[in-house]
Amino acid sequence: TSLVILFGGESSEHEVSCVSAASLLEHVDKEKYHINTIGITKEGNWFLTRSPIVNIDSGLWEKDKNNKKAFIVPDKSVGGVMIQEDDKSFSILKADVIFPVLHGRNGEDGTIQGLLQLSGIPFVGSGAAASSASMDKAITKAIINQSSIVDQAKSLVVYKSLCEKDADKELDSIEKFFDCKFPLFVKPANAGSSVGISKVKTSEALPEALEKAFCEDQKVLLEETIIGREIEVAVLGNEYPEASCIGEIFAANEFYDYNAKYENNQSKTAIVKDLTAEKEAEIRSKAVRIYQAMGCEGLARVDFFLQEDGRVVFNELNTLPGFTHISMYPKLWEASGIPYDKLIDRLITLALE
Ligand code: DAL
Ligand code: MG
Repeated sequence: TSLVILFGGESSEHEVSCVSAASLLEHVDKEKYHINTIGITKEGNWFLTRSPIVNIDSGLWEKDKNNKKAFIVPDKSVGGVMIQEDDKSFSILKADVIFPVLHGRNGEDGTIQGLLQLSGIPFVGSGAAASSASMDKAITKAIINQSSIVDQAKSLVVYKSLCEKDADKELDSIEKFFDCKFPLFVKPANAGSSVGISKVKTSEALPEALEKAFCEDQKVLLEETIIGREIEVAVLGNEYPEASCIGEIFAANEFYDYNAKYENNQSKTAIVKDLTAEKEAEIRSKAVRIYQAMGCEGLARVDFFLQEDGRVVFNELNTLPGFTHISMYPKLWEASGIPYDKLIDRLITLALE
């Protein structure tokens, strides 16, 4: 099987994607799959690269002189990726399946998925609609609100254009909505790995947090703070998805921000073992139902808070979760009896279904 791994991308999670891809390349069965890697630069240029895994991990692959421009075209008769050989000629790189190991904007948000759907090449993960709805925290909230699956934090959506027009009015309505109860979480609707997220403790700190979030997206979600354990479930499958065992995050910082995720090795993750069988079953079933409500396929990691009184609060889901060596998604399946290489097999099989 000819497998193309797509990595990098234009989003603020470009570096995370490179590390995820390197990890995947290390674990994938190289006898079973004929592998090609295509890197997308932060500017959005695609290159077929034969750079070694260490250079993919570090980002040095971009400087590789043997890289060749690669193009995916929305035409089903092509059957692969177009590679520019020289000024005038192109070849076709056969692709039976593509694994987009991309996070965030133009990677996880349905844009690439739409292109791949039009190209007719099967790919790992959710389709365009489920990807874009799941990427957008405000849309996810609205969809899950219309179900009776799970509780969510009280939230409000604010828009950059309205804040620019009359900041005082917007700030006033935010404080009224939350009844002046701080801290609040300020999150760009579309961004991953906690980029642009702040925990705001006073109303004075709100404008700066909004500005930071508006750098990532025109739309920002404000949420009440939920106090509870941060738990995550990995879901795998198409029509009949399965949930993994439950993982827990112990963030080194005040919340699990970008630094706590990838830079601060004081953050820890663990498999949750102290819950009753009923509570575990409840959380896993909620994860599957959220996955189905969002229309996901292939994989997703569903994140919750578990409050002291046992209430389960849905936080968000990621349709292309991190695959780095410290990432929860592969760890959870490993702990549930599916080792990393078998997990990749399963994902590819699901893509070809
Ligand atoms: N958005 C990051 C990659 C994650 O969810 O793991
Ligand atoms: Mg999360």
